[in-house]
Amino acid sequence: MSRAPLAGQVADDFSRLTGRSPEGVWSAPGRVNLIGEHTDYNDGLCLPIGLPQRTYVAAARRPDRTLRVWSAQQAAAVEVALTDVRPGHPAGWAAYVAGVLWALEREGHDVPGLDVAVDSAVPVGAGLSSSAALECAVAAAVSDLAGLDLLGSDPGRVTLVRACVAAENTIAQAPTGGMDQSTAMLCRDRRALLLDCRSWETRLVPFDLAAQGCALVVTDTRASHELTDGQYGSRRDECLAALAELGLGSLRDVDVDDLDPALDKLSNDVLRRRVRHVVTEIDRVRAAASALESGDLSQLGRLFDASHASMRDDYEISCLELDLATDTARAVGALGARMTGGGFGGSSIAIVPVDAVEETTSAIAAAFAAADLTAPVSFVVEAGGPAHRES
Ligand code: GLA
Repeated sequence: MSRAPLAGQVADDFSRLTGRSPEGVWSAPGRVNLIGEHTDYNDGLCLPIGLPQRTYVAAARRPDRTLRVWSAQQAAAVEVALTDVRPGHPAGWAAYVAGVLWALEREGHDVPGLDVAVDSAVPVGAGLSSSAALECAVAAAVSDLAGLDLLGSDPGRVTLVRACVAAENTIAQAPTGGMDQSTAMLCRDRRALLLDCRSWETRLVPFDLAAQGCALVVTDTRASHELTDGQYGSRRDECLAALAELGLGSLRDVDVDDLDPALDKLSNDVLRRRVRHVVTEIDRVRAAASALESGDLSQLGRLFDASHASMRDDYEISCLELDLATDTARAVGALGARMTGGGFGGSSIAIVPVDAVEETTSAIAAAFAAADLTAPVSFVVEAGGPAHRES
């Protein structure tokens, strides 16, 4: 018997676990960022796509103020009174669910108790924003079930983005910057999302590599990646320290043409390298959007390579596995390759001619085996659509 698609599966799980039918199923995608890393919390630009892999939630209101959550990916169910949700509580994955309810309630919305079942095709810990996909699927469900009606317009969706970011920053205590939630709420099929993290304006950019005989290969390196372990936060702190020395409010205020005089003002080489990454990366995002708009994949590939070098050498967020996956892809003929997401593990991406996809993924697997590393998982993705109601 073939397995039901996850939307149907999670509805069945909900009925089995609660003894009643869900009021609906909602889903939201994971993401890969094409370029523009660690720019979101610097008021910069980034260029992500939504993934075809999505997280699904089946949900129904409860008559009391309790949240109960189950996940097909987690052993234990979590039950928490909405009045008890606070920074660090509940801990772990349920914080991403409870935090969204907490954040919407804090903004004055009347949020009901809920039963929620979760199932996901977004790999956890792969740097593909499984947490944002979960938050945004839950936010979509709450919007409908609490009658908030925020899914029907971009401004409404941005309100949900803010609630999801607050959930992640305050309740889950991950100091992330908003790109992931914006992508899950605002992305479109066959489009990349040019996101201005200062004004929160967006522009959709054509993204259809298959039309040009290429594919975007994602490699989950299986090197573990955590946004709450301090390394991500230390990069944010270094950017703040650089701003204090420069007397500026945001690194977005440093134009790439004025980079050298800005670097000369900084007291040490670590801060100089961090600032150089952020400022040049913002510039690469603009160039990458233009390259996509003019269909110049070779130029996009060169920008991928330059971005990876900047993250490896200046921002120092790459690792052995990410360097190996990207070097190997390039050696086999990728037009360009880079790590994607927060770094210190997670996934890489490469633009690969369609007829070289198999050779590329095999070469990456062979290189990992030769280096005695855990086997990576590679797959081709196209740009998928935003959070929505399934049924
Ligand atoms: C993680 C964070 C994002 C962003 C990226 C790096 O995915 O959640 O906010 O900072 O890292 O670009």
